[in-house]
Amino acid sequence: MNVIIVGTQWGDEGKGKIIDILSQKVDYIVRYQGGSNAGHTVVTGNKEYIFHLIPSGILHKGKICCIGNGVVVDPAVLLCEVEELSSKGINIGKRLRISSLAHVILPYHKILDKLREKKRTNKIGTTGRGIGPCYADKIIRCGIRMVDLLNPSIFRDKLKDNLREKNEIFKKVYNHPGYDFKSIYKEYLNYGRLFSKYICNTSILLNQAIKHKKDILLEGAQGTFLDIDFGTYPFVTSSSAFSGGACIGSGIPPTKINKVIGVAKAYTTRVGEGPFPTEFSSAFGKFMRNKGNEFGATTGRPRRCGWLDCVMVKEAVILNGISELAIMKMDILEGLKTIKFCSAYKYKGKVFKEFPHDLEVLEGVKPVYKEVSGWNKTIGNSKRYRNLHPNAKAYLNRLEDILCSKITMVSVGSAREETILR
Ligand code: IMP
Repeated sequence: MNVIIVGTQWGDEGKGKIIDILSQKVDYIVRYQGGSNAGHTVVTGNKEYIFHLIPSGILHKGKICCIGNGVVVDPAVLLCEVEELSSKGINIGKRLRISSLAHVILPYHKILDKLREKKRTNKIGTTGRGIGPCYADKIIRCGIRMVDLLNPSIFRDKLKDNLREKNEIFKKVYNHPGYDFKSIYKEYLNYGRLFSKYICNTSILLNQAIKHKKDILLEGAQGTFLDIDFGTYPFVTSSSAFSGGACIGSGIPPTKINKVIGVAKAYTTRVGEGPFPTEFSSAFGKFMRNKGNEFGATTGRPRRCGWLDCVMVKEAVILNGISELAIMKMDILEGLKTIKFCSAYKYKGKVFKEFPHDLEVLEGVKPVYKEVSGWNKTIGNSKRYRNLHPNAKAYLNRLEDILCSKITMVSVGSAREETILR
C-alpha cells in the first residue's frame, strides 16, 4: 500500500505525529517537497525530536527514509540533523537515502530570500531558508543538484556561472558584497563527500520496492493552501505541497498511489502573511496560541490562529483526493463554551461555498459560522472514539458531514499514545 499524507490547511496541522504513527506500518518513508522551511515535531517517551529534512520515520528501526527529488536540500541543516539524531542514539546507518536529483540550497539562496523579502511592498513572510530562490534556479535551469556535489568539475562550472550572475545582482540591486567562489566550493564539495553514501537514484529504489510489494508512505510538508498552484498565491511556498506533488517529487507514478490521507487541525493556524478569513480577534488569538503552543517549529514565530475553516478543508479533500481525515489537537478546544466552524463565506451579499481565487474577495469575505457546544472535561485520556466526550463527538460528526470525508484518526494530546484510531 502506498499512501500520501497531506496537510489540508496552511501547514503545521500535526502531520509529523500521523506520519510517525503510520511509519511503523510501512517499509519506506519519503519526503517529496519543500526544504528546511518545514518542521515536524515528534514526542516519544520523554524525548522530543524536531525534523526539518529527514523523514521522522527514521525513529523506527529498519525503515528506509528518502529525501525525494522534489525536496530542496540545505546540506548544512541536513548535517546538523544527522549529527543530532546520532547523538540521541538513533542509528541512521544506510537507512537514509537522498535523491541525486534533489536541488541544493546554497548560501546565496538564503541571503537572496531575505533581501527580496525586505524589498517587497507586500511581504510574504518567508522562513528565510532560501526555498523560493532555490526552486527558482531549478525552474530557470541553473540549479545545482546533489549529484553535482559529487562531481568537482561540473560543480565548479555551475557554481562559477551562478556566482558570475548572482554577484552582479547582489551588488547592483541589493548593495551586498556577494560571494566568494572558493569558500562555497570547498564547503559544498565536503558536503558531497559526507553525504555520498546516502546519495542515489531514489525513484528507481522506490519503484523496485513497489515491485517487491513493499509499503511506502509519502509525506508532504507545508499544506494545500501553501501549494504554489492551489494555495493563497503569492502567500505560498514555492513547491507542490498538495498530493499531486508526491509523484513529481518522488518519481513514483500516479498509478501506484493507493490512498491519500488528509491532516487537519481542529482549528486553523497560519504563519506568515496572507488572507485568513476565520482568524480570531487578537486577544482570543493570543489565548489560543498559548493554549495550543502555536509557535513555529522552524522559526519559533507565533502562529496566527482561527476557527476551523471547512470551506478550505473541503476544497483540500477534493483537490488531494482525500478519502480519510485525521483531526489533530482536539484537546486544545476543551474548556471552550462553544466551538465554531466556518461553512461558507459572504462577500458583498453573495454566499461563497468554494474558496475564492481572487485575493481581494478572499481578503474581504466574512465567514458564515455554525456552532456546537464545547466540553469542560479533559479528553486527553480517551482511548477509544466511543469514550470521547459526546460534544467532541458531535463536533467531529458535523465535520464528517460537511467535509464529505471519514475521520479515521483523532489526536487528543501530543504523545503517540494520545491518538484515537477508528
Ligand atoms: P517559504 O516556504 O520559506 O518560502 O515561505 C513561504 C510561506 O510559507 C510563508 O508564509 C511561510 O510562513 C510559509 N511556510 C513555509 N513552510 C511552512 C511550514 O512548514 N509550516 C507553516 N508555514 C510554512
